[in-house]
This record gives sequence, structure tokens and C-alpha cells, in this order.
Amino acid sequence: MCQSRIGLQLKPKVYVSRIIPEPGMSLLYENCDVTLHAERDIPPSRAEMLSKSKDVEGVLVLLTERVDREFLDNASRLKVVSTFSVGLDHIDMVYATKKGIIVTHTPDVLTEATADFTFALLLASARRVAEGDRFVRSGQWNKPWSPYLLVGYDVHNSTLGIVGMGRIGKAVARRGLGFGMRVIYFDRKGPNAELEKDMGIHYCDFDTLLRTSDVVSVHLPLDEKSRHRFGDREFSMMKQSAVFVNASRGAIVDSFALYSALKRGKIFSAGLDVFEQEPLDQQSPLLSLENVVLAPHLGSASIQARSKMSGLAATNLIDALNGKMPKALANKEVLSRT
Ligand code: DGY
Repeated sequence: MCQSRIGLQLKPKVYVSRIIPEPGMSLLYENCDVTLHAERDIPPSRAEMLSKSKDVEGVLVLLTERVDREFLDNASRLKVVSTFSVGLDHIDMVYATKKGIIVTHTPDVLTEATADFTFALLLASARRVAEGDRFVRSGQWNKPWSPYLLVGYDVHNSTLGIVGMGRIGKAVARRGLGFGMRVIYFDRKGPNAELEKDMGIHYCDFDTLLRTSDVVSVHLPLDEKSRHRFGDREFSMMKQSAVFVNASRGAIVDSFALYSALKRGKIFSAGLDVFEQEPLDQQSPLLSLENVVLAPHLGSASIQARSKMSGLAATNLIDALNGKMPKALANKEVLSRT
């Protein structure tokens, strides 16, 4: 908490693990005593993370930083962890909550940007956009127009199967409807009658969704239940013409099973923004395939979304340190512990 000292505010000490876009940095400097890992593109070493957060009350981290038991125990004065991401899989939420540490994140502000990017991957994978680009650039476009060149599958009139009907899943569903797709969904919480009525979409069980969708798009958070939710079994159930899109977390998919489904033509193509290992290993067999569109985790990478994420992550941290309810509290259960 900020303490008054003859009209002056003692600013709370915070560690910020990367330079984030404006307005976040200005807000942090105005309101906190900031120790910054002054790099834009390279995360801090583990040793730096541990030493710089030892005496701080708050940290602002990215999804590249592991906030585990060791980190939480080491930062003995820590009250708040604010992450510049909606995903929380890099944070030991159970342990943070047990220790009474507030965790905040950046939902909502990146929903539409991530849904846009998901749709970009969907269109690119179904209609072979990246293959076409490589074809032209590499000088292979040396024959006149042909009815057979790089033919893909229609998006309109096809069935979009959404796995995980949270904020981003719903935003992707809206785009699908706008493109004239039939939308079905599976969600761990079960059917949502109101949503179905409002949007004209239909719930189905997971296996039926896999069997009947032309496009399967994954929007699950990564946790022990969703890890490797897509493996050999799931890919073998999909249509041979299916397009698979993942802009959630890489570890939800067994990457070898996906590679082998794409290689053996068990599914048509995939659009991937996330990987089990990021950055993607340069030896990854996925790189040898034509029928996969690969992106370096760009879902929320629009100027507008990143700026909103930054403002929200900084405000969450400042509010929580000042005893105010942060806008995007991720562990509500912590309130009954503090
Ligand atoms: C998140 O926020 O979790 C995304 O993966 C990056 O924006």
C-alpha cells in the first residue's frame, strides 16, 4: 500500500520484467518505484527475476516468465502479480492464492484482436494463402492460370467447430456467422441455452464436433485437463478435409500427432499461432510441411490491443497495491484470504 509521509506518497516498489508499450510504462513510473528489466524483446534470466523481485510488493510479468512456488516464496513481500496476458498458465495460481497474493490479467481488451487473428489463420489455411505467397515469391508462378492451382476449401457454407466457448471463442463464432458458416461448439461447462438462442449456434459433444466440423478452432485455457487434449485419436476423428486452428496455447495439442496428421493427409491443413515450445525449434518437423500456416504467437499483436493490455496491466497492479479492487482480478478466492 502507498503510505503518506508529510504529504508525500511513498511509492510501492515493483519489478517490471519487460518494457511494455504506452501507456503502461508512464502509469507505472508515475505511481510506483519501478525496477525495470530494460529490454524490449528478451526476457530476464531466472536469476534476475529472483533477485530483483526479492523486496518488491508488486511484479508485472509477461507470459514468458514463470511465476512458480520458488518465485512466490522468494519474493517475501509480494502482494500482487499483474500479468500482461489473459493466459495464466505461467503462474501457479493455487499457490499464489494460498499465499494471499493477488493475481491480475488482461481479459477483454485482446478478445477481438485475437479473434481477428484466429480468423486470419482460418482463412489462410483453408484457402492456402501462405502457400500462394511462397509460390509467387519463389518464381514458381511461371504458367498461365490453371483451374487446379492451389485449390483449397470453401469457408462460407462450412461448419465451424469451436472448442472452448469463452470470450475469444464467442468472438470467433460471431466472425464465423458473418462468413456464412454454421457454428457448433463444445465447452467444458456444457451447453449455454441463452447463447445458442442469441447467436443461433449449437452445442455438441466433443467427438461429434470433431467428426462434423470443417474447421476446428481451439479456444481453451491451458491446464491439466486441456494439456494434449488433441492427439492421434482426435486428429483421426476429423474429416480429411478439416482445417485445424490453434491460437490458444501450444501444449493443448500433441505437436507430433498434429505433424503426423498433416503429413499423412489425415486432415487438410492447420493454422498455428502457438507451440509447445516457443520460439518454435528450427528443427521442428512442422517447418517441412506446406499445409500449415505458422505464426509467432501474434494473436493479440495489434497496436490497439497491446496498448490496452499495457494500460490494464499497469492499472491492475497500481490499484491492487493501493488497496482498490483491480479491474481484472484473476483469483477472486484470494479476497476471502486477505
Ligand atoms: C495472452 O494474453 O495470453 C496471449 O497469449 C498473448 O496476448
